[in-house]
Amino acid sequence: MKIEPSEKLASLPPYAFAEIGKKVEELRALGVHPIDFGVGDPSEPTPDFVIQSLADGGKKHASSGYPSYIGSRRYREAAAGYMRRRFGVSLDPEREICATVGSKEAVFNLPEGFINPGDFVICPSPGYPPMKTGTVFAGGVPFFVPLLAENDFLIDYESIPESVANRAKILWLNYPNSPTGAIAGREYYKGLVEWAHRNEILIAADEGCYIDIYFDEPPPSILEVSREGIIAFYSLSKRNNMTGYRVGFVCGDERVIDVFKSLKTNIDSGVPDFVQEAAISALADEEHVENMRRLYRDKRDILLPALREAGLETSASDATFYLWQKVYGDDVEFAKKLLDPSIAIVVTPGSLISDTCDGGLNPGKGYVRFALMPSLEEVREAAKRLRALRGRP
Ligand SMILES: Cc1ncc(COP(=O)(O)O)c(C=O)c1O
Repeated sequence: MKIEPSEKLASLPPYAFAEIGKKVEELRALGVHPIDFGVGDPSEPTPDFVIQSLADGGKKHASSGYPSYIGSRRYREAAAGYMRRRFGVSLDPEREICATVGSKEAVFNLPEGFINPGDFVICPSPGYPPMKTGTVFAGGVPFFVPLLAENDFLIDYESIPESVANRAKILWLNYPNSPTGAIAGREYYKGLVEWAHRNEILIAADEGCYIDIYFDEPPPSILEVSREGIIAFYSLSKRNNMTGYRVGFVCGDERVIDVFKSLKTNIDSGVPDFVQEAAISALADEEHVENMRRLYRDKRDILLPALREAGLETSASDATFYLWQKVYGDDVEFAKKLLDPSIAIVVTPGSLISDTCDGGLNPGKGYVRFALMPSLEEVREAAKRLRALRGRP
């Protein structure tokens, strides 16, 4: 028999990093250990007290059983407590919050709840891939809008053609932004929300992944401005070094959350209860988050001057653990150059994590992304090697 993937799956572009991946493998084969700024997966351990809550949770829920689809009442209350403390936003844990198995599944699945074939979904470029792949699988059409330095990497919603706005059901937002590190302010959100309400477009704000990783002012939540027609996505993956735990939550307009809940009961069976116990203690603590912020700041402050000395034009990222670095020449070529055995630094070429927008522009061209994952010691070593780039062809 013939085994074939679906047309939708086959329509997705092939793995873009094959060429870079091959070069990294070649380096390893030569016995060179590259310093890896490629993948945004925290290398620091989950805090001990969180691991303890996980273990206690395992005993407490010894008889296992399926967890609640929407999260335990205690977990949703912990999420509500966090939102109140951090943003001054009061949410009803019963109606306005739902647990998720991390943000990725929630982002990918959301369009299934709202999109009919041919509806447009406005997606930022560069952007988090499940925004577009989830749209495609739901039968929708992604419309990519560029994040450009001249707009402070904010979506220029006024420039979206009326013909697109009329057919769009969802607009995806991601601030603090991966990979540009940009923050959206309350004034920007006010204008955007007004535009979205006028056009009857639901705002899906994937804001909670990096919202506690900032360097100066804490970034606001869009829910401080409005909750009508808005769903916000939160994840403990990066805030609490818990990528492997798979836990987060969505919150916002209860009508949107309601659709999300009924979609979810068809897809997964909820976050394991012992993981929710760990998440409850993680959400309540700020000290370890402050320590994490300090560590990323230290790494950023070592790398930025080295990039400048390498002759690159730098702009300090405001938040997230990414640096969106403008390079000279082609970004893929630049990334390959850093894989020379004498440098051995892995970065992600911007054009490979961006989609071509209306008019043929790929806004990631000419940028590379540094994820501040290597240890402080490795970052210092990388800085030394980057400085040596100056003047090299
Ligand atoms: C912008 C953005 N949103 C959401 C996520 C997903 O986080 P998780 O599925 O681990 O909760 C990521 C992970 O890298 C991300 O970069």
